[in-house]
Amino acid sequence: MTTRSSTPPPQSQLGQQLAADIPGLEVQDLPEILDAHSRDHTEDLQFLPDLVALPNSTSQVSALLAWANERRIPVTAAGAWTGLSGGALAVKGGISLSTKRLNRMVKIDELNHQLVVQPGVIVQEMQEAVQAKGLFYAVDPASRGTCTIGGNLAENSGGPRAVKYGVTKDWVLNLEVVLADGTVIQTGANTLKNSTGYNTTQLMVGSEGTLGIITEATLKLLPWPKFNALLLVPFADPKDACRAVAGIFQDGNQPSALEFMERAAIELAMDFTGDRQLPLSSDTAAHLLIEVDGFREEDLMPQLERLAQTLERFDAGEPLMAMDSAGKDQLWNLRRKVGEAVKAHSTYKEEDTVVPRGHLPELLAAIKQTGSEYGFESICYGHAGDGNLHVNILKGELSIAVWEQTLPEAIRAIFQKVVSLGGTISGEHGIGWVQKPYMDIRFSPAELALQRRIKDAFDPVHTLNPDKILP
Ligand code: LAC
Ligand code: ZN
Repeated sequence: MTTRSSTPPPQSQLGQQLAADIPGLEVQDLPEILDAHSRDHTEDLQFLPDLVALPNSTSQVSALLAWANERRIPVTAAGAWTGLSGGALAVKGGISLSTKRLNRMVKIDELNHQLVVQPGVIVQEMQEAVQAKGLFYAVDPASRGTCTIGGNLAENSGGPRAVKYGVTKDWVLNLEVVLADGTVIQTGANTLKNSTGYNTTQLMVGSEGTLGIITEATLKLLPWPKFNALLLVPFADPKDACRAVAGIFQDGNQPSALEFMERAAIELAMDFTGDRQLPLSSDTAAHLLIEVDGFREEDLMPQLERLAQTLERFDAGEPLMAMDSAGKDQLWNLRRKVGEAVKAHSTYKEEDTVVPRGHLPELLAAIKQTGSEYGFESICYGHAGDGNLHVNILKGELSIAVWEQTLPEAIRAIFQKVVSLGGTISGEHGIGWVQKPYMDIRFSPAELALQRRIKDAFDPVHTLNPDKILP
């Protein structure tokens, strides 16, 4: 069945040709539609595609890719435009392949604890559908209310719960993928174990639509740990908050979220949401937001007691505890809105640094040190339990020249520090368009050459999301 919108047929010659060659495929090219498909959440970037195509089946995706491949027309897949590295932007023009109509939850397999979905499904809707059956899809990015599973697969998204449950790649059993020439493949099997040939499933996850287009994913589910409690723990010194992170695990705690927020992050989120009810004492410089979960209510208290003992060792202030859903929603809402709040506050660049978590104190110190050397303010927050710190560099009073020419040097210095600490330049936002100039910091020429050969093997003429990831 084809769901046709009321959008008029394409005006351009290319659009008319595509619509004629693939009957039933929705093709759009009104200027306002192209504009709406030209920006994601990455800074202030904009790239217009020439056409937008909205396939509603794997066979339409296959026909579209074959058509574009023959004509050497770029195809860039896009979900809900919540990406933070420009992965969905059509930087070379061509076709923006919207997954909006590929939005079916194909099957919740209760017998095997699996979920089969198309890429355009909204993550939160998917989570709620499985929760209604007592099941749990753990990966929970800040944008879960709008982002799609296809985007999560493309970027290997993480989010707060990754600290206990892992990131998107840890939940993928099998993918249906359309290759650049239109061939449809399965990467794995719907089994918990698979030791059969190269692991193209994991290669595809995080490849940002540069190797193929995912049209169906089989994901693993867990029983739903229904109960949780949330603590907001203040620190007078952000370094203590960072030091506490490794200490929490060393003491045997297993939080289901462990987030760090500098004071400015939570203050901006309060301004942005209008929720100013949270008491913030004047000497608070940072917070840890810590969640514990369990299958029974009585699982929580022993975890909270153990945490309290650890926190005492690190000069934490008096925690605010949320046990009821209104209190938890309030805290999570503030945390989830930090990114948007910073964006609304100032032009910024966001770096997605990640180090082994024991090195967080050094990472934070290096970021602030680099900021004073180059004269920029930064707001840091993120998934501290994973050693994953989002660094939002504010433009503030910096001149355009400094912002455009000198700032990349500062970012390079931060990334060099990250790598020297055993970390890497993106934990969960991907490389996309904005981080690709820095790939040489993490990878040697030989390592980059190998990645290029992988790209060439999958997409010899480079029509799939060209000019992304690899410098
Ligand atoms: C977050 C997004 C920016 O953690 O990754 O809020
Ligand atoms: Zn994040």
